[in-house]
Amino acid sequence: IPHHSRETVSMQPHEDFIGGEPVYWDQIVTTKGQRNSIRIGGICTVIQTKAKTTADEWGENYFLIGPYFEHNMKTQVEQCEPANDAVRKAVDTMNKHGCQVHFGRWLIEGSPYVVLFDISSSAWNLDRWKGDFWEACSVTDHADGRHVIAQFHEWQAGTGLILSRARKLPIATVFTTHATLLGRYLCAANIDFYNQLDKFDIDKEAGERQIYHRYCMERASVHCAHVFTTVSEITAIEAEHMLKRKPDVVTPNGLNVKKFSAVHEFQNLHAMYKARIQDFVRGHFYGHLDFDLEKTLFLFIAGRYEFSNKGADIFLESLSRLNFLLRMHKSNVTVVVFFIMPAKTNNFNVETLKGQAVRKQLWDTVHCMKEKFGKKLYDGLLRGEIPDMNSILDRDDFTIMKRAIFSTQRQSLPPVTTHNMIDDSTDPILSTIRRIGLFNNRADRVKVILHPEFLSSTSPLLPMDYEEFVRGCHLGVFPSYYEPWGYTPAECTVMGIPSVTTNLSGFGCFVQEHVADPTAYGIYIVDRRFRSPDDSCNQLTQFLYGFCKQSRRQRIIQRNRTERLSDLLDWRYLGRYYQHARHLTLSRAFPDKFHLEPTSPPTTDGFRYPRPSSVPPSPSGSQASSPQSSDVENEGDEDERYDEEEEAERDRLNIKSPFSLNHVPKGKKKLHGEYKS
Ligand code: UDP
Ligand code: G6P
Ligand code: GLC
Repeated sequence: IPHHSRETVSMQPHEDFIGGEPVYWDQIVTTKGQRNSIRIGGICTVIQTKAKTTADEWGENYFLIGPYFEHNMKTQVEQCEPANDAVRKAVDTMNKHGCQVHFGRWLIEGSPYVVLFDISSSAWNLDRWKGDFWEACSVTDHADGRHVIAQFHEWQAGTGLILSRARKLPIATVFTTHATLLGRYLCAANIDFYNQLDKFDIDKEAGERQIYHRYCMERASVHCAHVFTTVSEITAIEAEHMLKRKPDVVTPNGLNVKKFSAVHEFQNLHAMYKARIQDFVRGHFYGHLDFDLEKTLFLFIAGRYEFSNKGADIFLESLSRLNFLLRMHKSNVTVVVFFIMPAKTNNFNVETLKGQAVRKQLWDTVHCMKEKFGKKLYDGLLRGEIPDMNSILDRDDFTIMKRAIFSTQRQSLPPVTTHNMIDDSTDPILSTIRRIGLFNNRADRVKVILHPEFLSSTSPLLPMDYEEFVRGCHLGVFPSYYEPWGYTPAECTVMGIPSVTTNLSGFGCFVQEHVADPTAYGIYIVDRRFRSPDDSCNQLTQFLYGFCKQSRRQRIIQRNRTERLSDLLDWRYLGRYYQHARHLTLSRAFPDKFHLEPTSPPTTDGFRYPRPSSVPPSPSGSQASSPQSSDVENEGDEDERYDEEEEAERDRLNIKSPFSLNHVPKGKKKLHGEYKS
């Protein structure tokens, strides 16, 4: 939403705003996706999940701003009048001047205030706005005693920041980048990015890639900000080279972690949602269900459709190798892999819808038979006799059942995509599938399904939310090459689902830093930094093959361990970095009012999750320490939780919760008195 940041600035409050207390303006990021659904990426996850901890800290002084979409407003926002006089005046003034502004509470955890701008209704103003927006809104831009912090995410919002500095508005600014434009572009072009970071002629590269203006806005925002932050150490290094400023604070992305009262609730949820995915698979593979669903593993990759940046390329290559290994070793395990990456489509394809209809019809037929059978049995027993089982179903019943079986025959293979793809012939996932020949043949042990749309519980095909789907799967695979943070594996972790990430993703590096043996905790980190693509691919294949060799019991144990890392990813812990960034910007923008102790940056130095006590020490620290059996495939289907709980108890004694670390907002304490001054 390129222009909404202007409103960020013009919404800055009147003099009578909030008697001297700082006010925090953050931003909502949504883009309109296909079919009126909202496509949400990682940046939206950042803002949405941190709303709770931020609202806890800032209360009524916390406002999010963003674009208005009617549907979202109706379903997610409770409209209300601003309680604060200055905000109400500003909203009224803007409405009077033809810029429709809506105000309310966003119905998410923390229920923060939102100010939403109806861009479409006033887009015709754009040219005029460019010239005289400030005068038209008659916003005052001078006053003592107000301390406003405005946080801008990404270059699109940067215009607001640049203008606010150019106009010398009394606002403390923070600019957060979640990626650099050039980094994303260069990586997508398959350039050996990380080994040449200091060698790029960045102006020239931006020009050649036709992103020069955007890149200038990004760079200007970075340099204008009082405080510049980014989401990981790896992106901090990238920013230093691509944007020529070292971030002041690294703000790792957290999540709103919910703990269930029953320790194993997340395991039950896995079983429950897996059953839903199994149902979908029954329909999708109708006529080809010659594999055992109890020995079928569900793997997935999800996120923005950037084929090589997200590692879909090496994932597909590894799947081809995995298919070969499973076939060669005559494994009885089947792997169904979902690609959840939005692409241009024009609806579901008929064959996929038919699959679910066939399954449903079969289910209905069985239900009718069951009823009929039950009634005859009941009548018989009432008469005091056991009915003759050979005649309890009549000829018609058999005809119906035979017809039902006939309806499950198909001439074609189960489709590799659920939708009609607009760019079918050039689509990179489909093209690779064609090249490696993973067509869902009967003999394939690896089956592939591309779902080129984000998931939704209202879908007629796979009616599940993304979270439910993740819980139902066995392994998330995110072998990204370019990934400033990468929420998807982090989300898997807090849901107790193992995942694959890389040492080029912010999340992967963060885990490496804090967890002694990530593999033992169900986080497989592919080395994409120091190995050739082919070697990385082999490593990934080994991870996947090793995962397939685990027994059910080993998977359960691994999920328990994975879930134990949740505290590390909780905003209640990671929120301190944003807190520090806010204190820092106040101290830089208003140095006479706010002071920051030089020792205040929070650190996690020395904090590390130890290797789980039950894992034998291994020299490699990765593959060998994963709980897998070497020559027995999927044996021991029993759930044996008890000894595992003992292990959990031992680990609990070993693992210090990150919350217990004594580096909570020192800055806050120092600044607290200042707020009141
Ligand atoms: N996601 C979603 N629905 C889906 C698939 C993914 O909402 O069907 C979300 C997911 O929960 C995650 C985000 O998309 O928060 C992807 O964020 P990530 O940081 O992994 O990558 P990005 O797409 O921002 O590069
Ligand atoms: C959870 C459930 C168990 C179930 C298991 C299946 O742990 O609580 O009842 O047996 O999931 O695990 P799997 O890895 O085979 O899907
Ligand atoms: C961007 C990055 C992603 C990160 C997200 C949230 O979309 O591509 O890696 O997780 O922002 O910071």
